[in-house]
Amino acid sequence: MKILAIESSCDETAAAVVENGRTVLSSVISTQIDEHKLYGGVVPEIASRRHCENITGVVKEALERADAALSDMDAVAVTNAPGLIGALLVGVSFAKGLAAAADLPLIPVHHIKGHIAANYLTSSELEPPFLCLVVSGGHTHIVKVTDYTELEVVGKTTDDAAGEAFDKAARAMGFPYPGGVYIDRAAKSGDPAKYTLPIPKTQAPYDFSFSGLKTAVINLIHNTRQKGGEPDVNSLAACFQQTAVTMLKDKFISAALELGEKKLALAGGVAANSALRAALSDAAKLHGMEFYLPDLSLCTDNAAMIGCQGYYEYLAGNVADMSLNAYATKKLHCL
Ligand code: KG4
Ligand code: ZN
Repeated sequence: MKILAIESSCDETAAAVVENGRTVLSSVISTQIDEHKLYGGVVPEIASRRHCENITGVVKEALERADAALSDMDAVAVTNAPGLIGALLVGVSFAKGLAAAADLPLIPVHHIKGHIAANYLTSSELEPPFLCLVVSGGHTHIVKVTDYTELEVVGKTTDDAAGEAFDKAARAMGFPYPGGVYIDRAAKSGDPAKYTLPIPKTQAPYDFSFSGLKTAVINLIHNTRQKGGEPDVNSLAACFQQTAVTMLKDKFISAALELGEKKLALAGGVAANSALRAALSDAAKLHGMEFYLPDLSLCTDNAAMIGCQGYYEYLAGNVADMSLNAYATKKLHCL
């Protein structure tokens, strides 16, 4: 079964052709990052307008690279939640048009389920159940993946998402948007012991909190400047990253131990972080757990992961009609 998948929830217009959920025949991503960089973050109206301009070309290229026509497709899958509403509506409307024109089933996909599915594309042997740490620009969740389409949220952030904290801390350090990857790079030549940052506490054992950590970075920079100095940005990046990674690792591993989970996975844009990948890989090894993580190219937003999850949604009968809508927020355990 060949699925044409579309993703437009934030600042990437993406399309892919995925066969039987696991084989990527093409994946095209048109990123708007350079334009949003000018404003220090994604400007929703600009994102919607660029999706509108780019989506036809991106879908056309995905079909061409897969050496296929729309008539060769068996279904159209599209991210319909969560995300920037204007951005999502472009993808959803386009997918509806394609599905109507070619008389194909229309499959709505939850963006975060797509991020989790990126693991199936990287590791062909991976099957649920497993415990997944989802860390993106908008989400931070510990999720029990009980089946391909059945999830249970075990823990979540009580304030900022992990990626949001990386991006805001990076901005304070003077890095461009999105700053997560710049912190990752700078941290490699910094001394994580040079500064001390607090690990925020949460009430629920598997919940996360990042806003205090972000504020501590901003305060440290201000205080240093007030005294006429400049922070050592590489060391501050290393310290921030180590603190964030420690929090994510400790909560995720203790959830796995307490829930008796032996198979772990990582997903979302922050899954590209080299320190997080290494820390979780070491911790899983230490506790005799299997650990899966997506290829770097599949961590940040793409449509291949939507095509993969779309296949399993289709098998579960989760197909939409032409009244399909987009939603800025949607609970992860809801279909
Ligand atoms: O999943 P994603 O592409 O978009 C959302 O669904 O939110 O995630 C983007 C996030 C951004 O916050 C970005 O800074 C972060 O992923 N990110 C990283 C790294 N690469 C991307 N954060 C830390 N280290 C990285 N290497
Ligand atoms: Zn994403």
